[in-house]
Amino acid sequence: MPTFAVETPRERYPVEVSRGALLSLAGHIPPKAGKLFVVTTRDVWNLHGALMRQALEGRAFETLFFPGGEERKRMASVEELAEQMIALGADRSSLVIAFGGGIVGDLGGFLAAIFMRGIPVIQAPTTLLAQVDAAVGGKTGANLVSGKNLIGSFHQPLAVIIDPDLLATLPPREYRAGLFEVLKCGIIRTPWLFERMARDASRVLAMEPDVVEEIIAESVRIKAEVVSADEKEGGLRRILNYGHTIGHALEAETQYKVLLHGEAVAFGMRAISHLSRLAGACGEAEASRMNEAIAAYGKLPPLTGVTAGALVARLGSDKKTIQGKVHFVLAERIGSVVVRSDVDDELVLHATSLALEELAAA
Ligand code: GLY
Repeated sequence: MPTFAVETPRERYPVEVSRGALLSLAGHIPPKAGKLFVVTTRDVWNLHGALMRQALEGRAFETLFFPGGEERKRMASVEELAEQMIALGADRSSLVIAFGGGIVGDLGGFLAAIFMRGIPVIQAPTTLLAQVDAAVGGKTGANLVSGKNLIGSFHQPLAVIIDPDLLATLPPREYRAGLFEVLKCGIIRTPWLFERMARDASRVLAMEPDVVEEIIAESVRIKAEVVSADEKEGGLRRILNYGHTIGHALEAETQYKVLLHGEAVAFGMRAISHLSRLAGACGEAEASRMNEAIAAYGKLPPLTGVTAGALVARLGSDKKTIQGKVHFVLAERIGSVVVRSDVDDELVLHATSLALEELAAA
């Protein structure tokens, strides 16, 4: 079973990736841990609760249900869960197991980060997006009315348990949305992963178990390596935001209602392929190859009424914008990116328009 280590200045923890890995979860619970709290949603519990019960067999645990949805990923939900924990006898020795998609992982991680000033969390992600990105690296948080993830904390988990078998019940649209984050990993760091995704799209989309395990493992390996080098996103970790700046603008512009996060990232990556070419970071052939690979993973929903101008206007309020400077991650070639904060607004506008036109024509 591939196990990757994340090693930050203060923590070291394993990320296990293998079919059936959930059943190894209890082995990561410290012997002195007190009460266990599984934070999940009813949907995840209906699908996978029996497996979690089996994984925790012989141990007492409480299940805390979060209603789910971006609109409920709010401080009020964290407070509600914390109150429930107190009522159920939680103390500083308690441990949270975040069992669900990215929203559950972020919110459950944040709950653990601030409950009694911090208790441990184990991340057990159930969606592809959470498995290849959100659950690894310690970013936790909640949304404000003003924007997504604007409050939060870095709180590294004790362990991350990634079981690709859990993806069998994932709606196809959600699975595809997660695949865009895998493509991102190939573009920023691993040419063979990109080639695999580009060449074997039909096998990936058919969820062939060996292929799925392989692409998740490589994405996780990259994430573990990048987070270990730069936990707090002072430098290298920015490369994980490839396609995200424009993607976040699109999510906000469509009120988080039209696209899944991975789909917005796919749009952002298409715009960034154009931007990389227009800014002279990469050549035409590479930009086209990247956009063809993204297109092979399906159409995005129509973006009626979205304009390039409106998206570009939102970039200044992205939380990754520092002192007014938007840091763009541009592709130099497949497997290598560069961070640039001097990209001309006109080029960004042009690249975004091209991506919108392509989408409208698809
Ligand atoms: N999702 C990007 C990061 O964890 O840094």
